Amino acid sequence: MIAAQLLAYYFTELKDDQLKKIDKYLFSMRFSDDTLKDLMSRFKREMEAGLGRDTNATATVKMLPTFVRSIPQGSEKGDFIALDLGGSNFRILRVKVTQDKKQPVQMESQVYETPDDIIHGSGSQLFDHVADCLGDFMEKQNIKDKKLPVGFTFSFPCAQTKLDEAVLVTWTKKFKASGVEGADVVKLLNKAIQKRGDYEADIMAVVNDTVGTMMTCGFDDQRCEVGIIIGTGTNACYMEELRHIDLVEGDEGRMCINTEWGAFGDDGSLEDIRTEFDREIDRGSLNPGVCSFEKMISGMYLGEIVRQILIDLTKRGFLFRGQISETLKTRGIFETKFLSQIESDRLALLQVRAILQQLGLDSTCDDSIIVKEVCGTVSRRAAQICGAGMAAVVDKIRENRGLDHLEVTVGVDGTLYKLHPHFSRIFQQTVKDLAPKCDVTFLLSEDGSGKGAALITAVGCRQRELDAQQH
Ligand code: GLC
Repeated sequence: MIAAQLLAYYFTELKDDQLKKIDKYLFSMRFSDDTLKDLMSRFKREMEAGLGRDTNATATVKMLPTFVRSIPQGSEKGDFIALDLGGSNFRILRVKVTQDKKQPVQMESQVYETPDDIIHGSGSQLFDHVADCLGDFMEKQNIKDKKLPVGFTFSFPCAQTKLDEAVLVTWTKKFKASGVEGADVVKLLNKAIQKRGDYEADIMAVVNDTVGTMMTCGFDDQRCEVGIIIGTGTNACYMEELRHIDLVEGDEGRMCINTEWGAFGDDGSLEDIRTEFDREIDRGSLNPGVCSFEKMISGMYLGEIVRQILIDLTKRGFLFRGQISETLKTRGIFETKFLSQIESDRLALLQVRAILQQLGLDSTCDDSIIVKEVCGTVSRRAAQICGAGMAAVVDKIRENRGLDHLEVTVGVDGTLYKLHPHFSRIFQQTVKDLAPKCDVTFLLSEDGSGKGAALITAVGCRQRELDAQQH
């Protein structure tokens, strides 16, 4: 007992002294309310610029029209295939939407490996792989003789002029297959399917994962008019008034806009809040110079930011007895899932130390305290700036409708949001503080993007039938 008390006392003493220095060191990554408010206004301006005809070309937030005009009505039905490429897994789903009250949506799915040599190879290899997996899935489902409508969740920025055409603007996250940027991914996939020649597919809709998430939640809650992903990457979509979208004809009604907010700051406008560590991970990334906002927030990058800070703290003699081990020099060792584990309140310091040791980082208990503090600072910054972006989106919807008060639901998905012990709480609190006139309900979407793609496909099928009747 006495030993335990002594130990606790020792840690507290140590914490106070060391943490003061560390606190000072991490100061530039802690934002005041004013900074967050300012960030929210800057983001709102950038959204306006993305929507404007004359300003879109230079805006960093591209505000891509999705040609999804309504949230589901709940009356959709049919048998669909959904492909989900670009999140943490490549998945194929069979989604049956019925009018059954108890279980309106039934899904069966399979995850397929997408090895690095495929996502970094040629575009035709990538789409051949997708077509092969789809063939395998249809075989297993015994539906190779059917031509089912397919919804394609493709979680990258795409320029669309209709639901079933999507030109990849640029790869983001881990993907870098050649010859796809500037091409219509529906054409590429159709070509790969035709090359096989053993089954047919009718690709009806290409959908961003944010849009799929919004649609899935919208099926259960008609007030869901925003979708957000906080996972490997981050992005948001929302229902905008058509009269504000200069790049699409028409003034009546609304259309879902894929903001592609990850690119916010790519013109240098976030330099005042970025740090040397952010610049360092940018330099070492697959796509230097772009996705500035995303690189400060999403799961693909947070662990790397922590690693950069740990290297610097070691160089300064604060950590690991000043010794930079080979492990610490290894890019990617500090995965974001370790951040989640280390920050868990249920974990005692000795367990944090055990995790670091598992990672090959020979740490003392003092080291564990500091590492935990670094992780907390990096994830809090991410949650707050992400919250500032979300606050701008919901407040824009409120202003669009001339309301003093808006009630809105946001569909959310993504591993970081779901698995991190504090991210969602800090994110939601920031939205509340920055957008006090909006009453926001956050709805977690399960299997969101695939199911959403099927729902959009259902809406697309209905539209196609109507068009056929009219002509
Ligand atoms: C990246 C993609 C975007 C996607 C997001 C979440 O930011 O560019 O399209 O929605 O990741 O997966």
